[in-house]
Amino acid sequence: MDFNTALVTGASRGIGQAIVRKFRARGMHVHAVALADQSLIDMAAETGAVPHGLDLRDTGALAALVEGLDIDVLVNNAGVLPQLQPFAASTPSTIDALIDVNLRAALHVTSLVLPGMIARDRGHIFFMGSIAGKHPTPNTATYGATKAALHAFAEGLRCDLLGSSVRVTVLMPGRVQTRLYDDIFGGHDKASEALYDDFEAIQPGDIATVIANAMDLPAHVDLTTIEVLPTRQTFGGSQIARRRESAGSAAEPT
Ligand SMILES: NC(=O)c1ccc[n+]([C@@H]2O[C@H](COP(=O)([O-])OP(=O)(O)OC[C@H]3O[C@@H](n4cnc5c(N)ncnc54)[C@H](OP(=O)(O)O)[C@@H]3O)[C@@H](O)[C@H]2O)c1
Repeated sequence: MDFNTALVTGASRGIGQAIVRKFRARGMHVHAVALADQSLIDMAAETGAVPHGLDLRDTGALAALVEGLDIDVLVNNAGVLPQLQPFAASTPSTIDALIDVNLRAALHVTSLVLPGMIARDRGHIFFMGSIAGKHPTPNTATYGATKAALHAFAEGLRCDLLGSSVRVTVLMPGRVQTRLYDDIFGGHDKASEALYDDFEAIQPGDIATVIANAMDLPAHVDLTTIEVLPTRQTFGGSQIARRRESAGSAAEPT
């Protein structure tokens, strides 16, 4: 499809920035949303995207941003992962941040952009889910729940859109090399050492290519769900904990 104007959230770095670069390279007009900081300004100056520094939790600012824009492609990419801890150790603020940024903001942006897409009978909405929304892993219960909810929402949205030309796609990436885990590991170097140095992760540009490929399909084809993993990453398996009174390891594969 030949789309002209995109709105990308979480655009200052990582996957979002790669998507902005890809879209700009295709000559698209791109509105790039992230928290107001120098990295957003630098990225916009370099790519020619229009920067919008705002907190996605601010629904009033979102409405003002979208007002008057005819968005063809919406990429709900912004996300946070404030901690890797068992849910019992969660704080109210981290629970709220996960739900507000990963889920609520994506729904609000979509609700603001969608009426125009429906009226023009043209558009493509992407949601950045995660493989964590399909295959639960320890210490990410709330994060996984927000991603699973995005997936469920996208499927419901497709039902509502039946008969329109607006396409909806959910991506479920595995490990992508970004700064998502920097704070959790105490800085970028430590996160790289733990997650990337010895592993072949997906690069942000790979995800941007996947999105561009989905966009390029004929208008009557909607790639609804895309699971994208590093070739050397897999999910599955099951664990069962020993009886409390038993000695030895806490859990074993079934
Ligand atoms: N990395 C992975 O392994 C992986 C795997 C599966 C799915 N994902 C998903 O991919 C998406 C992008 O993540 P990433 O890995 O590229 O992470 P990242 O490098 O940490 O980038 C996150 C982006 O979201 C923006 N953001 C966060 N909170 C915001 C808020 N309240 N308002 C506006 N912008 C906000 C950040 O802006 P600032 O820089 O201004 O804070 C940044 O641009 C997320 O939804 C993540 O869950 C990532």
